[in-house]
Amino acid sequence: MTKATNITWHATTITKSERRIQNAHGSCVLWFTGLSGSGKSTIANAVSVELYKNGINEYVLDGDNIRHGLNKDLGFSDEDRTENIRRIGEVAKLFVDSGKVVTTAFISPFQSDRNQVRELFDEHEFIEVFVDCPLEECENRDTKQLYAKARRGEIKGFTGIDSPYEAPENPEITVRTKDISVEEAVDQVLQYLREKQII
Ligand code: PPS
Repeated sequence: MTKATNITWHATTITKSERRIQNAHGSCVLWFTGLSGSGKSTIANAVSVELYKNGINEYVLDGDNIRHGLNKDLGFSDEDRTENIRRIGEVAKLFVDSGKVVTTAFISPFQSDRNQVRELFDEHEFIEVFVDCPLEECENRDTKQLYAKARRGEIKGFTGIDSPYEAPENPEITVRTKDISVEEAVDQVLQYLREKQII
């Protein structure tokens, strides 16, 4: 692939700050990371619903959905996961620029990839939410029957089985989904956003 040259960045007339003023709230990305079946999508969605009900401009970017479209050319090798996360990071940045609170639900197993995404954002815009759930519990839930397939060797390179998951070193929020309800997890996230005066 040949990289483009002779391209110039154009600043838009309406800025992120102006969009935030019009929205009457801040914008940020809530970056949910965790094992398959840990509850990322469920909580990201539930947070988004609560934000929506409160008149906050929100949007959800979800792993399985993005892999049906934008990232349908990517698989689950380490390199493809890195590229998956890089693209989502860039998309999330556009949403934050548009003045929204965007929730993302991707396994994003590598700390270095999450750090790279964090680098794209201004301070306090990137909020890493560790959806902390033991592998054993995720495997017991096995809502999509993917762990069973991975154990039978029908899926290679499944996160937590034969592909690594690096837990966040310093997440802004940790939700322990084995111990708390979805409602409690949502409250915990919203409380954080209020404390930081984003909403
Ligand atoms: S990653 O690692 O961040 O690029 O993955 P992500 O884009 O979030 O996609 C994870 C969902 O894809 C399904 N799936 C797999 N997950 C992990 N490893 C392998 N090999 C795999 N193959 C398919 C699975 O449904 C994941 O969804 P969640 O919501 O996490 O259960």
